[in-house]
Amino acid sequence: MILPRISTRLLSPELLANFASDVRAGLGKAGQKELSSQYLYDEIGSALFDVICLLPEYGLTQADARLLRRFSPEIISRLPRPVIIAELGSGSGQKTKWLLEELARRQAVHYYPIDISGAALDRCHQELSQVECVSIQAFKRAYLEGLLEVAARRNGDERLLVLFLGSTIGNFTRVAGESFLGEVRKILRPGDALLLSSDLEKPISQLLLAYDDPAGVTAAFNKNLLARINRELDADFRVDQFAHEVRWDDAERRIEMHLRSLCEQTVDIAGSEMKVTFRSGETIWTESSLRFNPAELTGMGERAGYRCEAQWLDEDWPFAQSLFFAV
Ligand code: AVI
Repeated sequence: MILPRISTRLLSPELLANFASDVRAGLGKAGQKELSSQYLYDEIGSALFDVICLLPEYGLTQADARLLRRFSPEIISRLPRPVIIAELGSGSGQKTKWLLEELARRQAVHYYPIDISGAALDRCHQELSQVECVSIQAFKRAYLEGLLEVAARRNGDERLLVLFLGSTIGNFTRVAGESFLGEVRKILRPGDALLLSSDLEKPISQLLLAYDDPAGVTAAFNKNLLARINRELDADFRVDQFAHEVRWDDAERRIEMHLRSLCEQTVDIAGSEMKVTFRSGETIWTESSLRFNPAELTGMGERAGYRCEAQWLDEDWPFAQSLFFAV
């Protein structure tokens, strides 16, 4: 059996300093303690997330892939040509493959995955370099920074298709998500396209199970954040003294992941120059994952400067692919 290589490659000094100060700010809060969900994805967290995507209880990835497999011909047929493709978050190359293969039937394909994780880009390259007639150039950058570089490289007549898959938009707040789509729009030209995938509302029991799977993979993913702080910021979290907790917030229509302290405890985080005390039962909020409805997605896109060309929905696991054009 060949196992994926996992190393705990360290962050650059600049990213490490940001991590240390974000941890300090989030855990130093007087009210609800927080850690940003972006820090869930070190190499171990990313590998655990890949496993989550295979879990039967976590239907998002399969729904996303089903829609792309089934509707790639229609999606591609609606695009102007020639078009180049940039993907925000290189994600699992598997889903993108359907689109690249379909486009490759019509033109040579230039694909630009953008991700801050080198490991994610490596995996994506491995998966997609086998697709014929596709050239791949990866950008190890923050989304908007990378997209600016891709947009600057295109030839005069080339259109740009931006992929934002996997329902990552759900990990923003609604306001921040819409403004992010607006920031993407500013980089695009009228007629460029955005394919946005988003998870839709569904029974709460189904969602709770998706984020608290019986095999405990999501719990390990969540707790790895504390282990990561131990590794990279020289902290002494006793990871077994925290429990994975999942909640549904009905007013905000979002799943929240928390880590609940099982006792009163003080943790020393040397790299953030702080000691944090947790009451027994106190939680750290580590992720929000919004649920949408199709009309709301269309409205968000329109307010951000796009028109919705088409939307495809999965019925087994309510999920949407929305194709927008920049106006
Ligand atoms: C990446 N993102 C869309 C996932 C989600 O469903 O919000 C992250 C995740 N968290 C727990 N399970 C998966």
